[in-house]
Amino acid sequence: MPTTATPSGIHATAQAAPCTLVIFGASGDLTRRKLLPAVYNLLLDGLLPENYAVLGLGRKSMSDDAFRTIAREGIEKFSRQTLDEDKWQDFQRRVFYMNGGVDDTSTFTTMKTRLEEIETTFNLTGHRIFYLAIPPTTFKPACEGLDQAGLIYDVHDRMHYSRVIVEKPIGRDLESAKDINAITGRVFDESQIYRIDHYLGKETVQNIMVLRFANAIFEPIWNHRYIDHVQLTVSEAETLGTRASYYEEAGALRDMIQNHILQLLCLIAMEPPYSLDPDVVRNVRMDVLRGLRPIRGKDVEHMTVRAQYAHGTIHGKEFPGYRREDGVRPDSTTETYVALKVFVENWRWAGVPFYIRTGKAMPKRASEIAVQFKDIPQILFNANPNLPQAPNLLTLRIQPEEGMALRIISKQPGSKAKTHPVEMDFKYGDAFDAPSPEAYERLLLDVMTGDASLFMRRDAVEASWTWVTDILKGWEEHGTKWLPEYPAGTWGPIEADKLIETDGRKWRLV
Ligand code: BG6
Repeated sequence: MPTTATPSGIHATAQAAPCTLVIFGASGDLTRRKLLPAVYNLLLDGLLPENYAVLGLGRKSMSDDAFRTIAREGIEKFSRQTLDEDKWQDFQRRVFYMNGGVDDTSTFTTMKTRLEEIETTFNLTGHRIFYLAIPPTTFKPACEGLDQAGLIYDVHDRMHYSRVIVEKPIGRDLESAKDINAITGRVFDESQIYRIDHYLGKETVQNIMVLRFANAIFEPIWNHRYIDHVQLTVSEAETLGTRASYYEEAGALRDMIQNHILQLLCLIAMEPPYSLDPDVVRNVRMDVLRGLRPIRGKDVEHMTVRAQYAHGTIHGKEFPGYRREDGVRPDSTTETYVALKVFVENWRWAGVPFYIRTGKAMPKRASEIAVQFKDIPQILFNANPNLPQAPNLLTLRIQPEEGMALRIISKQPGSKAKTHPVEMDFKYGDAFDAPSPEAYERLLLDVMTGDASLFMRRDAVEASWTWVTDILKGWEEHGTKWLPEYPAGTWGPIEADKLIETDGRKWRLV
């Protein structure tokens, strides 16, 4: 029996049972770039059940073979591992496509017939995973269609499972998130719903818990007594691309902070769970969200900065400003950059600021969490107030160049008692032979094995939206009419520097 790593943990033995993956939105980008390559890599790694099948549903009309060609191209271009002809042959005969819209009830009767045929052909037992890679406005007809066609097994059915995977965005504020949760919740039991946050599937993100709770040295100092502050940076060199219709309505706060970044914060700030049981881990993550100090009303003026990229140069290439991008309103006030000062109000983190920044069109793609420890007393090696010693710093590089570094102070070789900061650096690429699996590989496998640890529970989605919606309201009521700009290819607006510098600190050079 293959052994798969559990969320956090490791050593759990979980074998995925035979199942069919039904992808809604199969002719879209996510399916081609991420989902089909992920299933294929699971096959290569021997992690798929012996019997499985994939049925894609999309608006485009095409044959199974045409869909297989798209799948092959997607795998050739985006797969972590190269295409193996024998494995591909086995894979492709298990991949099917059907055309249809979710508003049309005949889609679901056809789906039922096709699913039953596929299940018979491949000796499948009837376990079904429905992946909703479609806009949230279509979740309602999709869920109702599945329900009315009798495609969903009851949660108490011991012979078959039905699970649904819900892609972001789960809403654009608290109310709409609640609506989406209510829609899926009417048809599926909470235990059948897997809300994806692909950051939680990243190897380096899972390693945060291991770092904290599989090592003796960090936990005793992981609190306000030793930590000065934490910086969380998720910068992207990419500009808007072709996503204007989505991004114009979203902006950086909704797109990155409400989900991915708050989840990173939860992993850094949470208490040790008493077990690796999915709900125990999700409970401690949830406690962090509950402990976030609200940023309401005029607080947005000194706790947040929002900005938009202007014309500039990234890696030697010129890019137009956000408002000149295709599909963007010329007077758009959508933010492409956010910086925040956040507090987690509990005993462990009392008074420790978490500085967060994320943006598009920045100088490089880099996600990292930097934990800065307190200054040592100004005596002995740190006695010269004009030459303060650099504090210890633990940097977790989420991506790229995955790894971590610890800055410590060392004696500079020579006869004088001079000190110098040095880095102990660990790189995944050097320490482990095999490349890390992609987030979607890990997450799809977890759905197949029924492990929900790395997925968002309903209460967590609503708690993070509650916090984010306060900021959105604050911006509406107290935001400046004028949105600060930063040239594409720079680290954000001057206002973001002020946010941290008024506290006597500086953004790290990533
Ligand atoms: C997505 C956002 O959820 O995450 C995108 O919608 C963003 O705007 C992407 O680019 C970042 O993911 P990653 O894995 O490339 O860091």
